[in-house]
Amino acid sequence: MSVGIDEISFYTSNYFLDLRTLAEVQHTDPDKYYTGIGQERMGMAAPDEDIVTLAANAALPLIERVGPDAISTLLFATETGIDQSKSAGVYVHRLLGLNSNCRVVELKQACYSATAALQMACALVARQPQRKVLVIASDIARYDLNTPGEATQGCGAVAMLIGSDPRLVSIEPEVGNYTEDVMDFWRPNYRTTALVDGKYSTKIYLKALKRAWENFREVSPLTFGDLSHFCYHLPFSRMAQKAHQHLAKLNRSPLDPEQLEAQIEETLLYNRTIGNSYTASMYIGLCSLLENCRNSLADSRIGFFSYGSGCVGEFFTGTVRQGYEACLHRSRHQQMLAARSELSYDEYLELYRYPDPRDGEVHEIPQVTTGRFRLAAISHHKREYIIC
Ligand code: HMG
Repeated sequence: MSVGIDEISFYTSNYFLDLRTLAEVQHTDPDKYYTGIGQERMGMAAPDEDIVTLAANAALPLIERVGPDAISTLLFATETGIDQSKSAGVYVHRLLGLNSNCRVVELKQACYSATAALQMACALVARQPQRKVLVIASDIARYDLNTPGEATQGCGAVAMLIGSDPRLVSIEPEVGNYTEDVMDFWRPNYRTTALVDGKYSTKIYLKALKRAWENFREVSPLTFGDLSHFCYHLPFSRMAQKAHQHLAKLNRSPLDPEQLEAQIEETLLYNRTIGNSYTASMYIGLCSLLENCRNSLADSRIGFFSYGSGCVGEFFTGTVRQGYEACLHRSRHQQMLAARSELSYDEYLELYRYPDPRDGEVHEIPQVTTGRFRLAAISHHKREYIIC
């Protein structure tokens, strides 16, 4: 029985900062961002947006199609947790009107946890093929101002419907894993921004890729040459280019640089203008590939490398199904990205510094988002979400 991704949809904030604006303020060459790290814009969440509203907006089109009662489990992956106890998914459960018999849980391991959610969802569906599991990954990437990480911020959420006989991508059961206790990127509970050892994190990412790939090769007969496209975790698009060259070299691939670039270039398009969306980023990369590849991907095999700092890496594969083109949300995604508003540097700072109340008073939040769901207030330490 085939199990995998039946439908996929993503959402990002309506606001972005062009990295040329950031470069100008920092007296940096914009090519460092546009070419050096391969990023052009970064999404900035509005004050009334958070991982819950981004997630509900991403998942809404899927629920409108299958109906709220179709979902047996909601797995919510994030590293931008809003509560130490309550899963962000429980708020989403209400906003989407899911059935009260649907189970909900939140998962965490930096950017990797969406892949853990996907694998667990596949296992649940394999046990009960008539059920559908909703996997949501939602994050807001924040680094300190005037640090090398600042240009790699972003925000976004992706929602995937996992089912049997999927219409988009069937996920193969063989996986390669690598785990090591390292401090390349982390965010202690008392901080709102991540701490990162930037250069080290890129080295650990490549090491995890090598080790996860070697583990994958022990359990799967597939070789590098059997895979036509590759989706990598995307902290910034240059990272995927480096990773792919690394993997090709490890496998002594005969492909030339242009052929290698062709195996990943369509996965990078959305990320270049959204920025890092942590757990969501590799799956937004998958959307980007499925929605922008000039040739049909039907029956092609895709390699996925999911990485979460700290660190856990996983290599796995999926096969694109015949007829997948008819099941995409291409025009909705592209219209959403085209309709975003550009921020000035001062507007960016205002969003960046928007207060995060902790005093238990009543804090109404102005309506800024253009999304369907918003965080309307935080009062008495409770977050109040509404449907617009
Ligand atoms: P940096 O150190 O300021 O940048 O920040 P740099 O000086 O290394 O320059 C970057 C590239 O731009 C270099 O190219 C330069 O040569 C080039 P490379 O040598 O790498 O090929 N460059 C230029 N190119 C054209 N024109 C110019 C120019 N100037 C320079 N004028 C760093 C880079 C990655 C350290 C920083 O962005 C950072 O700290 N980012 C955050 C950490 C990160 O994203 N790490 C990635 C791996 S870890 C990961 O993916 C997990 C994560 O998503 C979190 C999670 O799992 O939860 C982060």
